[in-house]
Amino acid sequence: MTDRVFINDVAARDGFQIEARWIETADKIAFIDRLSATGLAKIEATSFTSPKAIPNLADAAEVMQGITRTPNIDYVALIPNIKGVERAIAVSTDELNFVMSASDSHGRANLRMTADESLARFADMVAAANGASVTLNASISTAFGCPFEGPVAAERVLEIVACIADLGISGVTLCDTTGVANPLQVAALCEAVRERHPALNLTLHPHNTRGMGLANALAAWQVGVRHFDAALGGLGGCPYAPGASGNICTEDLVHMFECMGVTTGVDLDGLIAVSETLPELIGHDVPGQVVKAGKADRRYPLPASLA
Ligand code: COA
Ligand code: ZN
Repeated sequence: MTDRVFINDVAARDGFQIEARWIETADKIAFIDRLSATGLAKIEATSFTSPKAIPNLADAAEVMQGITRTPNIDYVALIPNIKGVERAIAVSTDELNFVMSASDSHGRANLRMTADESLARFADMVAAANGASVTLNASISTAFGCPFEGPVAAERVLEIVACIADLGISGVTLCDTTGVANPLQVAALCEAVRERHPALNLTLHPHNTRGMGLANALAAWQVGVRHFDAALGGLGGCPYAPGASGNICTEDLVHMFECMGVTTGVDLDGLIAVSETLPELIGHDVPGQVVKAGKADRRYPLPASLA
């Protein structure tokens, strides 16, 4: 096992998509450019979705064209259909992150598609991307449970992963859309995916809705997962999943791994400095903890009575 993890910050997509207030395109670009200076492996910058479904990200093309690309960072966009593939390729997106749901109810609410319909659509999307210089990944929402249907069988998720691998898509992300997964469940499913598909790049996308997010990330790391999605400040949430709330917080995740001696490649102080700009950008406080508490090596002066 290598002691390096790779973090994809999804605040500009998973985070901004659910904010009540419109964030100006120039502010999105400035935010992503600041994140680019912190050494993240990937930045999910936007989604090429229907502007009626996700109005906050209607400026996806302008954002992708406006940001300054840092050579070692892959700039990712979430894609639901062929139109999204074409729009993303037109502005040189590095990685297309196809999205579907493991549960049909969430799939119909979010994308107007069942899982099988999404998989059929993925085949056309792979064909549409053929020839472009892009990496393909597929995110499976509600992989650990659905807000409408409840538990989702691990076998069903494994069946979906197998279909995705057969399509030649090189990575898969297991998403805990509403934060219902527990660490043992995460470890078991991640281990099964890794055993059956050792060549597939496996990413975990935890949400911290029920406080299990970092525990789930650790559980996945313990079974060999090295790629994680997280959002600066702990922003995030799917507008079509009732009760959804923030992703795990990027700076808290980086802090946890760095405390454990696991390299993230990320400048934690730089990341915290960007996180400090979030409340003004989005107009409210954020759930991240390290930005408030300081890093674990923070020290306070002794009380005057003891000094
Ligand atoms: N980019 C821009 N516009 C798009 C689009 C895309 N990728 N896909 C569809 N549209 C437009 C169509 O052109 C059409 O526009 P019109 O009404 O002006 O003619 C309209 O959206 C409806 O198109 P249709 O193909 O019928 O889509 P739909 O209404 O069945 O919606 C999705 C399906 C997938 C496009 C939509 O549900 C969606 O974008 N969902 C994304 C959800 C999401 O990102 N959730 C959070 C992340 S998990
Ligand atoms: Zn998410």
